[in-house]
Amino acid sequence: MRTQQGTPKIWKMLLLLLLIFLVACSQQSTPPSMATTRPKKTYRDLVVGFAQVGAESEWRTGNTASIKEAAEELGVELIFADGQQSQENQIKAIRTFIAQQVDVIGVSPVVENGWDSVFQEARDAGIPIILVDRRANVDESLYATHLGSDFVEEGRNAARVMAKLLNGKGNIVELTGTTGSAPAIDRYKGFREIMQEYPEIHIIASVDGDFTRARGKEAMADLLKQYGSQINALYAHNDDMAIGAIKAIEEYGLQPGVDIKIVSIDAIRDAFQAMIDGKLNATVECNPLLGPKFFELALKVVNGEAVPKWIPSSESIFYPENAREILPSRKY
Ligand code: AHR
Repeated sequence: MRTQQGTPKIWKMLLLLLLIFLVACSQQSTPPSMATTRPKKTYRDLVVGFAQVGAESEWRTGNTASIKEAAEELGVELIFADGQQSQENQIKAIRTFIAQQVDVIGVSPVVENGWDSVFQEARDAGIPIILVDRRANVDESLYATHLGSDFVEEGRNAARVMAKLLNGKGNIVELTGTTGSAPAIDRYKGFREIMQEYPEIHIIASVDGDFTRARGKEAMADLLKQYGSQINALYAHNDDMAIGAIKAIEEYGLQPGVDIKIVSIDAIRDAFQAMIDGKLNATVECNPLLGPKFFELALKVVNGEAVPKWIPSSESIFYPENAREILPSRKY
């Protein structure tokens, strides 16, 4: 009896469940079969556009090599654009990548501001942006992630080392990186955060050296003309400018690293050589070898996996004491 009376009830329930299932399916934009079976992309499926800053420094050359080598090793199709230190060129390159419908766009913004429109265009086209090395001053929703150094901490570290070299007293001149770029802004700021604890240390001049050797040399020669032997130390936002400045100091007749203490940032091979030669007192590391991690993130982002908003590099400080020993293992 129970079974006979129960049977129609069960059928009604099953019918109701089927109805609920069909309604739920009709409300989904993607058919359930497609959503579950969409295959994940692999490195070999990826097409990535990369808008590089330029070739202003040895650091940058190392960064470009790391990106190209990683693409080659992983089998990623890389479309590489050299911005020649122009924001306009980088924006054009990003627009071309959007038209080419690449899977991901990597960019190292030459300066912080002015990216909102083009990043929005990429977003409208469904193409994620990954910031590599330099930050852009945009809303977080406009990029997937940022892979790059803590430039403020690099500035703080340079200041800590410099304060010790000067025994808390002296006049510093500063060669800054490209005006408006994230590393120049942050390294300037981080350095001063620490220096305010040293009232007898004075930053007597701060000049844009554009991250290049040529500008570093020129700017240092001008500073020497203006301040001469009042200068006790040089803080350069990168090694290339410090190496240019070393030449200017020698031409002026002073001994770099002795008469003028020098601290710079990047830890390129030439900086190790300068430390071995006694012309540079310390270099704060900034890691350009970002290629493998960049493509790992690109693949994750394309496959809808969660990634952190910022992935900072871990970096050290190097001194003349063990420069000779370390130099052979440096990759850039
Ligand atoms: O953005 C990183 C900086 O850019 C490096 O310190 C500098 O050498 C490069 O040009």
